[in-house]
Amino acid sequence: MTDFVDSIAALDEQSAFDAEQLASQLTLTLQPADENLNQLWLSGHGLALNMPSLGKPFYIDFNGGKYDHRRKFGGGRGQPLAKAVGLKQGQNPSVIDATAGFARDAFVLASLGCSVTMIEQNAIMAALLADALSRATQNADTADIGVRMQIHHSNAIQFLTENYITADVIYMDPMYPTREKSALVKKDMQLLHQLAGADTDSAELLALARQKAGKRVVVKRPKGAEFVGEQKPSASIQSKNTRFDIYPTI
Ligand SMILES: C[S@@+](CC[C@H](N)C(=O)[O-])C[C@H]1O[C@@H](n2cnc3c(N)ncnc32)[C@H](O)[C@@H]1O
Repeated sequence: MTDFVDSIAALDEQSAFDAEQLASQLTLTLQPADENLNQLWLSGHGLALNMPSLGKPFYIDFNGGKYDHRRKFGGGRGQPLAKAVGLKQGQNPSVIDATAGFARDAFVLASLGCSVTMIEQNAIMAALLADALSRATQNADTADIGVRMQIHHSNAIQFLTENYITADVIYMDPMYPTREKSALVKKDMQLLHQLAGADTDSAELLALARQKAGKRVVVKRPKGAEFVGEQKPSASIQSKNTRFDIYPTI
């Protein structure tokens, strides 16, 4: 759904060539920066998404903010996400994150030693992730984490069907229907909802993931939410606001 963003601007001369390449890759027009438009902005700092309704331009920075905080203070291998994925002493399962989004969970798993193949169906999100990943691999603090991560722009069902790719764990965190107008919905989730819309294929993805994963499938849900596709997990791990449902392979 790139219609929502239809142009890209280079904010400095050095970024003009790359902006042109990205415009053609994403079938966007190349235009001067306009802060009133939903627009991608490319500069020496990286690729940002300007969405006037959400305030300042958004870009993913694995070296700062929530990413850095969760890496340092998120609870390491004892945190519910790590337990659900099966990180034990000396065991770093390979993971396909079938719904990459902002890659917050993927980055945590990669920082704990997992190799993570991320799949993201939204072209703009995938481009923001690819840019962030390339910056992460050039920064001494995150280079070793970045090399364990890969991003593919695709629908995960299509990707898992068309590619012979295996991983111990397939992880999914589908979009949850939200109270669109509520002030409680954080800005970044509002952004994702506007950009990517609701998920309609989670039940199908879960069924396929259970056939493709080597060891297990993990589905992240808000606390109290129904099971995806009414498929009952074999176990669940609870945290404050989140539940991780664990499914055996079939
Ligand atoms: C809630 S977000 C994931 C957030 C992520 N776990 C994180 O830590 O940042 C869901 C994302 O999955 C993507 N998505 C949903 N269904 C998908 C599918 N079948 N294939 C690929 N991407 C999908 C959406 O576009 C959205 O970006």
